[in-house]
Amino acid sequence: MLLENMSYVEVEAYLIEKDIVLVPLGSTEQHSPYGLIGTDFITAEAVAREVGKRLDILVAPTLCYGMSQHHMGFKGTVTLSPETMVSVARDIVVSFLDHGFKRIVFINGHGGNIEPVKTAFSQLKYENRKGIFEIISWFLLPEVQEVERDIFEDKNGYHATPSEVSITKLLRPEAFKTKPSEKKRITRNNVYFPLSREEFKQAYPDGRMESAPWLAKEKYGKLILEEAVRTVAHRVREIMKMKLL
Ligand code: NI
Repeated sequence: MLLENMSYVEVEAYLIEKDIVLVPLGSTEQHSPYGLIGTDFITAEAVAREVGKRLDILVAPTLCYGMSQHHMGFKGTVTLSPETMVSVARDIVVSFLDHGFKRIVFINGHGGNIEPVKTAFSQLKYENRKGIFEIISWFLLPEVQEVERDIFEDKNGYHATPSEVSITKLLRPEAFKTKPSEKKRITRNNVYFPLSREEFKQAYPDGRMESAPWLAKEKYGKLILEEAVRTVAHRVREIMKMKLL
């Protein structure tokens, strides 16, 4: 059920039965020469929409921009400032609360979004807002990471991972006709976080973070996407059962 295809009359009817909405959250940022700039929102949207279909719950339009300041050393990246990201997350939640939604769940595809979104949740609770606010980052779920380890062993890395690249390859095969496929070296870095754009580029000159995106295959994407959907759906079902105070 996609919010963008509904009328307000249909949303009113939905709210009589249910009080949950999923909001896919991604980024517009470099994913090395091997991956798509839209990787994080493409993956998050695919997970959220399939979960929405299976559980028959509402999925809001995807937020395609996130907090990506550390990738700004690479062309095509667009970032919200940390403060803006907090405000955007807050305003989205408040809008849904105003209409009677009580469980607002961000399905996230990008690590940089986690801290600002959680800050927004803390701010909302400080303001005494009622409701359940959650962010589920599909790529951090232990069940998903186990599948990634089985397939890619220690080569998944932390950014432009063969896992996320496999999912986008499955969903947007045409876009990969122009992407490279040769192997490169994986350099292990012992760096601190957060990093500025210059520090990031120094540590990770081609935009990968200890990953081997050339290992990406559509068939792996299918397996990982299914595990992500299964696990996220399980978490969302638990959230639907939680008692509201
Ligand atoms: Ni990513």
